[in-house]
Amino acid sequence: MKEKIKQLANEISALKASDIEELEAIRIKYLSKKGEVSNLFNEFRNVPNEEKKEMGQLLNQLKETAQEKINTLKDALSSNAAGTQKEDLTRTAEALKLGTRHPLSLVRNEIIHIFSKIGFAVAEGPEIEDDWHVFGALNFPPEHPARDMQDTFFIEKNPDILLRTHTSSVQVRVMEKQKPPIRLLFPGRVYRNEAISYRAHCFFHQVEGLYIDKDVSFADLRQALLYFAKEMFGAETEIRLRPSYFPFTEPSAEMDISCNICGGKGCPFCKHTGWVEILGCGMVDPNVLKNCGIDPDEYSGYAFGMGVERITNLKYQVKDLRLFSENDVRFLEEFEAVL
Ligand code: PHE
Repeated sequence: MKEKIKQLANEISALKASDIEELEAIRIKYLSKKGEVSNLFNEFRNVPNEEKKEMGQLLNQLKETAQEKINTLKDALSSNAAGTQKEDLTRTAEALKLGTRHPLSLVRNEIIHIFSKIGFAVAEGPEIEDDWHVFGALNFPPEHPARDMQDTFFIEKNPDILLRTHTSSVQVRVMEKQKPPIRLLFPGRVYRNEAISYRAHCFFHQVEGLYIDKDVSFADLRQALLYFAKEMFGAETEIRLRPSYFPFTEPSAEMDISCNICGGKGCPFCKHTGWVEILGCGMVDPNVLKNCGIDPDEYSGYAFGMGVERITNLKYQVKDLRLFSENDVRFLEEFEAVL
């Protein structure tokens, strides 16, 4: 029996298999119930008692060797299979999944693009400001409610340092330094102390605009805004200007566009009026020009300011302002197709 075991062990260690079928045949020949190794186990009954220990060990070893051999052959076969698989070098590369632009960035960029076509460039300034640039230079009387703790975030206990409530502060900074003509846009984040809800947040984004030159008139303002509305919301869009009040413009107006959701027929979004308000505007108050070192007898100008969230809501019908700052990818991925 010892001889037989030895002979089988040699046989097994010399085995080769060129495919899965051959390997299976080997397994059946040696390790199946009626295979050679199993046969030896059957003969084990006849082994004299004093040899049982030794033979038992040898038999177990043989079984293990056979199993190991089969495993190694199997591994060799499967790694060979992987190696011979042809790679298709002509296949186009898999498209990388790029991130999406935030809807507010998309709309801000679009506003900038539209105005850039009529000569507006971009200027930016600090979000942490002083009272002069946010209020003082812009004609806000000391008791104006916008200065109130309700609306403005003040920094530490110094009421002179605050988070800007509009980007008009950048207009002031530019006018203080630059001689007209000035034709600029002021995009940026602004802060107001409001309770957070679906329609208000403690911060939002604005794009303001300023044009100062000789003989700039209200008609120029109206024409620029009409052009903007049609570019942004479609050629059929109409505008209307309603008289309003801002400390830094005179005269001042608020601009509505014909509701782009119902086409002006009336719907819940426009509260059945057919019109939605999108921005504030007016002729820069001569006092503001003076405050910034520009001679109001020589120059005049117009200014306007809009909330990017508002424009985005109108364009994409986003119903809850909070979605813009929650970074929920399910929301952000909806803008994947828009560039
Ligand atoms: N600064 C104003 C606001 O934040 C918007 C505005 C800008 C109005 C320019 C008129 C002219 O509400």
